[in-house]
Amino acid sequence: MNVLVTGGAGYLGSHACLKLLEEGYGVVALDNLANSNSKSLERVQKITGKTLKFYEGDILDREVLGRIFSEQKIDFCIHFAGLKAVGESVQKPWEYYNNNITGTLTLLDEMRKAGVKNIIFSSSATVYGDPAQIPITEECPKGSCTNPYGWTKSMIEQILMDMYKADNEWNIVILRYFNPVGAHQSALIGEDPKGIPNNLMPYVTQVALGRLPQLGVFGGDYDTPDGTCIRDYIHVLDLIDGHVKAIKKLEDNSGLSIYNLGTGHGVSVLELVENFIKATGVDVPYVMKDRRAGDIPVCYSDPSKAERELGWKAQYGVFEMCRDAWNWQMKNPKGYEEE
Ligand code: NAD
Ligand code: UD1
Repeated sequence: MNVLVTGGAGYLGSHACLKLLEEGYGVVALDNLANSNSKSLERVQKITGKTLKFYEGDILDREVLGRIFSEQKIDFCIHFAGLKAVGESVQKPWEYYNNNITGTLTLLDEMRKAGVKNIIFSSSATVYGDPAQIPITEECPKGSCTNPYGWTKSMIEQILMDMYKADNEWNIVILRYFNPVGAHQSALIGEDPKGIPNNLMPYVTQVALGRLPQLGVFGGDYDTPDGTCIRDYIHVLDLIDGHVKAIKKLEDNSGLSIYNLGTGHGVSVLELVENFIKATGVDVPYVMKDRRAGDIPVCYSDPSKAERELGWKAQYGVFEMCRDAWNWQMKNPKGYEEE
């Protein structure tokens, strides 16, 4: 069985390529390297001792998609490709809607032309907006997103639902990720954000490294036990394991399904910092700052549907997430760039 992994060179995509090779799948990765480095895929091949096919190209480019489907026998697609910087999406809404939505529409069209109608889509807990219930189940109504990035996820979900309604030969799994962090234990692949990180864990690892002076904790006056926001951090290896389980679901011609991928445990910003210090022995100086616009106080999943239907459950805790994120950062202080 062969899997097309769009966005395969990125943070989650590279971990997926690795796991799929380990599980015996053939892997075809497509990435335009807009936010990644092809070294991640060289390292995936080094870790596994197996080879994959890499196409450097764009999901908006029908020519490259057509070439992939004619040159390779693809059974499933895991669709990670997309732009994901929340702040940038507010500045460049057209670019985000075009890349993520037109890109997905183009991919879906080329897939159906090739008769490949099995897809797993990377969605996000951001589609719940300010969630109507905690913990968040999949039945929780979708909410109002605070930024164009979030809307692209919400709209692509709707597109997939309508495509399935019109043609139930499609098998579609929508995975709503909570907060993926950590890295493969080899410390050869990991998250490599360009510029100053927006997300908490890469910011913490860069402070620990001394590249950034201190962490700013966005808001200490929320209605939570320690006043800081609560999130559901999930180890990237658990998250990717959920995708492999979802492929098995596609193999059963399961139609359309939606799953939360989270641990079900809420962790505050300060708890994450404490865990990081315990797991690594490295200090993380921080200062309290104002709230960040668009943040919600509490967001964590009820992941029981994925356990029931996919037989999937997260195995790693925050300690391991911090340890593995740090190992990657420490051994690759400049990410995939050479020292
Ligand atoms: P990433 O930026 O590391 O990976 C995305 C990859 O897609 C990059 O390698 C980028 O170069 C590629 N890409 C972007 N536009 C493309 C295009 N038009 N054609 C071909 N390739 C293109 O991000 P990630 O963290 O690995 O996220 C993967 C997916 O998961 C994204 O869709 C993201 O929105 C979603 N997601 C991520 C998180 C998270 O916290 N990391 C949370 C929820 C959802
Ligand atoms: C953010 C995005 C979300 C996206 C997700 C994964 C926003 C509002 N939401 O989620 O749409 O799907 O990333 O890419 O941007 N924090 C600090 N200091 C920092 C960075 C973060 O205190 O320097 C806090 C935040 O306020 C938040 C928590 O840490 O409470 C987690 O932040 P982050 O990693 O950015 O993830 P989310 O905001 O949950």
